[in-house]
Amino acid sequence: MTRSFTPKLLAGAILMACAGLAQAATITISCGTVGQDYEFCKRATDEWARKTGNSVKLVSIPTAPSDILGLYRKLFAAKSSDMDVVTLDVVWPGMIGNHLIDLTPYAKDEAKKHFPAIIANNTVKGKLVAMPWFTEAGMLYYRKDLLEKYKQPVPKTWEEFAKTAAAIQEGERKAGNNDFQGYVWQGKAYEGLTCNALEWVYSDGGGTIVDEQGNITINNEHAAKALDTARGWIGTISPQGVLNYAEEDARGVFQNGKAAFMRNWSYAWALAQGADSRVKDKVGVTTMPGGGKGQAATLGGWQLSVSKYSKHPDEAADLVMYLTSEREQKRRAIEGSFNPTYPALYEDKEVLAANPFFTNLYQVLQNALPRPATVTGLKYNEVSQSFWNATHEVLSGRTNGTDAVKKLEGRLKQVKRNKW
Ligand code: GLC
Repeated sequence: MTRSFTPKLLAGAILMACAGLAQAATITISCGTVGQDYEFCKRATDEWARKTGNSVKLVSIPTAPSDILGLYRKLFAAKSSDMDVVTLDVVWPGMIGNHLIDLTPYAKDEAKKHFPAIIANNTVKGKLVAMPWFTEAGMLYYRKDLLEKYKQPVPKTWEEFAKTAAAIQEGERKAGNNDFQGYVWQGKAYEGLTCNALEWVYSDGGGTIVDEQGNITINNEHAAKALDTARGWIGTISPQGVLNYAEEDARGVFQNGKAAFMRNWSYAWALAQGADSRVKDKVGVTTMPGGGKGQAATLGGWQLSVSKYSKHPDEAADLVMYLTSEREQKRRAIEGSFNPTYPALYEDKEVLAANPFFTNLYQVLQNALPRPATVTGLKYNEVSQSFWNATHEVLSGRTNGTDAVKKLEGRLKQVKRNKW
C-alpha cells in the first residue's frame, strides 16, 4: 500500500521534523582507553545517536587516571562546555562531584537496582553525581596448563605464590622460553600501582594508608615488610620492566603466553579468551594471594556523569542512562567481561556462561577494599600519588620499606595539614 499525504499532513510532518532537528544536540563524551573500551563505547553511543536523532562526539583522553583527572580539572576550572559526559573513576566523586549535575531526576527508580555501596560512593552531599557503569576488583589470572604441567596448586598465600611463580619461570626458561616471566602486574608510578600495593599492604596487616577516621596509618612494620616483599619480586619473578607497566602492558605479556601469573581487572578475561589470544582456554582467574591478615582485592570501576557546564544536560543525562542501563551492561558483560553494577546480572545465565568466574567474583566484589578516597575527599589524588611514589622508590631499590613508610607518613601529614 502506498501512503498518500494530504498537503496539511505533509506540512505537519515537515514542521515536526524541523522541530526535532532544532532540538538535536551533539553530545561530547570521553570514553575509556583500556582494552576494548573505545569500541564498546563507540557502538553504544552510535546506537543512542540513531535512536534519538542526536549526535555523539567521542573525545580521546589520556590513559593514566590521574592525567584524565587533570584534564577534567582544567576543563571544570574554565567552566568549559567542551565535554558533556565524563567517565569517572570510582575514587573521584568526592574530588570533582561539585562540577557534576545531580542525576537523581533522570535516574528515578533505576538507582535502586545498582549495588547500594556504589550508589553511596557516587552520592556527594546528597546528590547522585555519577551513574555506575562497571565495577571491578583486582584478580589473579593464572595459566591452568602450566600449574598442571608443574603439578602446582593454585597458590593461596603470597609465599606459596612467589615459589610457584619462580618454579614455573625456571622450568619454562630451561625449556628454551627465555623471556618467560613468573608474574606481571602494574608497577608503574601511577594509580594502578596504588591499587596493587594496597592489596599487598592490607593483606599483610598494614592497613589502608589512611583509616576510615582519617588517621594516617601507613607507618607500620607490616606495610614496610609488604613493600620489601614486592621489591624482592623485581628481577626474580617479575621483569625489571614491570616498573613501567600499566594494565595493558601486563596483559600484552600474559596474553602472548609469556607469563605464569598476572594481576588485572575483569576486562582482561574477554581478551584472553579472544580468537587471537595465545592463551585462549588456558587461563584461570582466582582471588589475589593473601598474607597474615587474609586476602585483599582493591575496588575499582568507572561511572558516567554529566558536567555542570554542559549546554545539553538533558540529552547528556539521557545518554548516561542509556549507557549505564541493565541492557547495555549485560551486553558489555557478555562480550567484554565488564562487571555489571546490577546485582541481578550476576545470576543471569548468559552472563555467567561467558564469564564463569563471575560467580566467585560476586563475593570478591562485595568484600573489595576501597581506597581511602571518601575520607580524604579533595586530597585523595595527592594521597595516592604520595603512596605510589613511595612504593615505586622501594620497588626500584632507591629506599627500603621502613624508611619509605616513615617518609610517606611525613608527606601525608603535610597533605593533610589539619584535616582532610
Ligand atoms: C581500573 C580501575 C580504576 C583504577 C585504575 C588504575 O581502571 O577501574 O578504579 O583506578 O584501574 O589503573
